[in-house]
Formats: sequence, structure tokens, C-alpha cells
Amino acid sequence: MISDARWTVIRATKGFMPEAEGIALAEAAHAAALAVGGPLLEIGTYCGKSAIHLGCAAEATDTVLYTVDHHRGSEENQAGWDHHDTEVVDPATGRMDTLPFFRRAIEAAGLERSVVAVIGHSVPVARSWATPLGFLFIDGGHALDVAMADYEHWAGFVKPGGTLAIHDVFEHKEEGGQAPFEVWTRAVADGFAPIGTTGSLRTLRRA
Ligand SMILES: C[S@@+](CC[C@H](N)C(=O)[O-])C[C@H]1O[C@@H](n2cnc3c(N)ncnc32)[C@H](O)[C@@H]1O
Repeated sequence: MISDARWTVIRATKGFMPEAEGIALAEAAHAAALAVGGPLLEIGTYCGKSAIHLGCAAEATDTVLYTVDHHRGSEENQAGWDHHDTEVVDPATGRMDTLPFFRRAIEAAGLERSVVAVIGHSVPVARSWATPLGFLFIDGGHALDVAMADYEHWAGFVKPGGTLAIHDVFEHKEEGGQAPFEVWTRAVADGFAPIGTTGSLRTLRRA
């Protein structure tokens, strides 16, 4: 589904999406859009790596991907944390700003008509959101309160038969942070049916 030219852009884009998981993410989004229609929505754009995968699925199914991020980085992206990258700090303000990287990536991938940036904090955006979603991908902040707030404010927008995807789900704390696993556990308790696992990416279908 992804052209060689787009793979070149994906590989040059900063981010946190292993290739096998990106492929699985796009396939799940593609299948959901064919089954129940779009649009697709991602929480956690960063520099656009996963948005290119999902944008390809959106383009192929004639829908769009909305990708939500304040572009100031999660707690774990800030200076002093493992996932900090000084290149995404705006020298004028000293704050992270991944938006210019995202814009360049989506332009280079030729996906400006299929990927719509929503720049803001996830919860306030959700409070005024009204459109049912064929596919929801949660990959924003990984602190428990932040990840759970994303789930609580957005999962209800997934259409019946639509798909919820959660990234960085690690069942054991030795493998990674537990918040996404707690969100996955909550989703299962709420009636989402697990349908796939690729690496740390898990997908579930809404009844
Ligand atoms: C793990 S990164 C996303 C990685 C990306 N999906 C990729 O493929 O590389 C998490 C992103 O979520 C954003 N974020 C964290 N908390 C947020 C919130 N409450 N609202 C909007 N964006 C948030 C951060 O700014 C960061 O860019």
C-alpha cells in the first residue's frame, strides 16, 4: 500500500513507530474504513511518522485522518527524559515544537489532502468534537491520567464495528510503562473486543 517514495519519507521522519507496527496500524485503519467508513483520528502526531502510515490508509479509502497534538511534547519528551530530542526545541522559545517537522513530512509524503492537523490539547478538542470515527488511534501522553483521559474522552466516538488502536501496550512493567496497558484493559472491560497485536500495537473492535 505504501510507495517506495513514501517509505523514504517515513524513514526520514522522527518518531516512535516501528515499521512492522506502522504497517499493521495502516492495515487496521484501512480495514476499518472499508467496513464502517471514516474518518480516522490519531491522538499524538509528534513529527508525523504514524500519520503518514494512517494518511496512506485514509487516501486509499477516500477519507481523512485527523491528527491531534499540541506539538509541545509529552512529559517523556521533555529535557532530561529518555525520549528528548534537542533538535525539536524551538530556539526562539526554548519549548518543543514538532509542528514544522510534521508539516514538512506530510508535504514530502504528498498527503496534505488526506491528513488534517488539529493543533491543541486532546481533551478540549474532544469536548467540542461531534463526528463518529471509523478508527481511533491513541498514542498521546503516556502518563496514566493523560492516556486514560484520551480514552475516556474519545473512545465513545468510535462507531459500532469501528476500531480502537492503542500504542505502547506492555503487559509487564519490565517491558515498558503500564498506562497504555491499563487503557487497553479498561477498553476490554468496556466491551471492546481485542482483534490484533503487532509488537506493542493492539487493536480492538467496538461491538
Ligand atoms: C509518543 S508521541 C507520538 C508519536 C507518533 N505517533 C509517532 O508515530 O512517532 C506523543 C505525542 O503526543 C502529544 N501529546 C501528549 N499529550 C497530549 C495531549 N494531552 N494533547 C495533545 N497531544 C498530546 C505530544 O506532544 C507528542 O507529540
